[in-house]
Amino acid sequence: MYAERVLSGMRPTGSLHLGHYHGVLKNWITLQHEYPCLFFVADWHALTTQYDDPHGIVGSSHDMLVDWLAAGVDPARAILFIQSQVPEHAELHLLLSMMTPLSWLERVPTYKDQQEKLENKDLSTYGFLGYPLLQSADILIYRADKVPVGEDQVPHIEFSREIARRFNHLYGREPGFEDKAREAVSKLGAKRARRYDELRKRFQQEGEQVAVERARALLDEVPALTPVERERLHGYLEGTGKTILVEPGALLTEASRMPGLDGQKMSKSYGNTITLREDAASVTQKVRRMPTDPARIRRGDAGDPDKCPVWQLHQVYSDDACRDWVQKGCRSAGIGCLDCKQPVIDGILKEQAPMRERAQPYLDDPALVRAIIDDGNAKARGLARETMRDVRDAMGLHYR
Ligand code: TRP
Ligand code: SF4
Repeated sequence: MYAERVLSGMRPTGSLHLGHYHGVLKNWITLQHEYPCLFFVADWHALTTQYDDPHGIVGSSHDMLVDWLAAGVDPARAILFIQSQVPEHAELHLLLSMMTPLSWLERVPTYKDQQEKLENKDLSTYGFLGYPLLQSADILIYRADKVPVGEDQVPHIEFSREIARRFNHLYGREPGFEDKAREAVSKLGAKRARRYDELRKRFQQEGEQVAVERARALLDEVPALTPVERERLHGYLEGTGKTILVEPGALLTEASRMPGLDGQKMSKSYGNTITLREDAASVTQKVRRMPTDPARIRRGDAGDPDKCPVWQLHQVYSDDACRDWVQKGCRSAGIGCLDCKQPVIDGILKEQAPMRERAQPYLDDPALVRAIIDDGNAKARGLARETMRDVRDAMGLHYR
């Protein structure tokens, strides 16, 4: 079958904050060591809600890319690209739109949710309704089987699976499939071919699941098969025809518990963020101004860390010894709140130091970012083109 592949995208929101780092980027950085990865800027997706003000998107995309690189996303390991620079996404989106029932789009939960949430904006647009379908095209065009996303995006992955299934069902029967499959069977050698046919019959006539597994194992033993032939024989075996688009799976990213400056989840819309590369003076000032246990009015009042957002940050940044010091010192009024905040400030600055360092060359020379993206766009485009060739073939859309 197709190789394992991870793909994820982010809408360009400009500078990222520590919540993005702990919630998303750290996970990408782990994944890039485990799988071939593609990470992209979903600039067209930004347009679905920002169609009235598109001019900031390019700048936001650049800033976000610098933050990815700063965080440690490694262009030598992962392909980094920009959605709109791989126009094949749009072609696949269009072709999929022809076979996508409106009702499927209307029932995606984010559709109504987001419309209600952003009620001051007219989102009764064609593009916004198609948001999950564009996302499906993003995923399916790379035949990505692993899509790291947060919980809110799981319905979109499920939707992509349904779209892939529908596409394969409609167009998976390539013309001459039977002949091509028989030709591939003959490459197995007489003995294996006989065994394959027997197992195929046992599955298709008796529904024996083990027969499928045995036949697959048998196919694995034949290195001479090309990936396309192997794929074809899988389809022939199960009577499903050809898998043109691979059904993706969600790799659920654990919800980030990264607290913001006020104890709520860190989020731009709450105005409680610290950006990834925020300067030291500003970080210090923001933490020093954080609210604490409201009952601790004077230095002599004892406090309760459970009622204090600073304590939540200690859980991210401090070791056991320090946390113990906070617990005891707070409850006995042995330490002041500014004392208590210092290790948090130190922890954040320490985390940010390598990010600032990694970002510097890109800030000094933005052409470096462009070079990385040019390279990523070209690689992504190569993969996207392969899929589009198969898609057009399956639909009979080739004028040669
Ligand atoms: N919708 C995603 C989000 O808002 C961004 C996105 C677009 C995406 N296309 C994707 C994520 C494909 C994963 C795969 O977070
Ligand atoms: Fe919060 Fe620390 Fe002050 Fe206690 S001592 S109220 S945990 S900042």
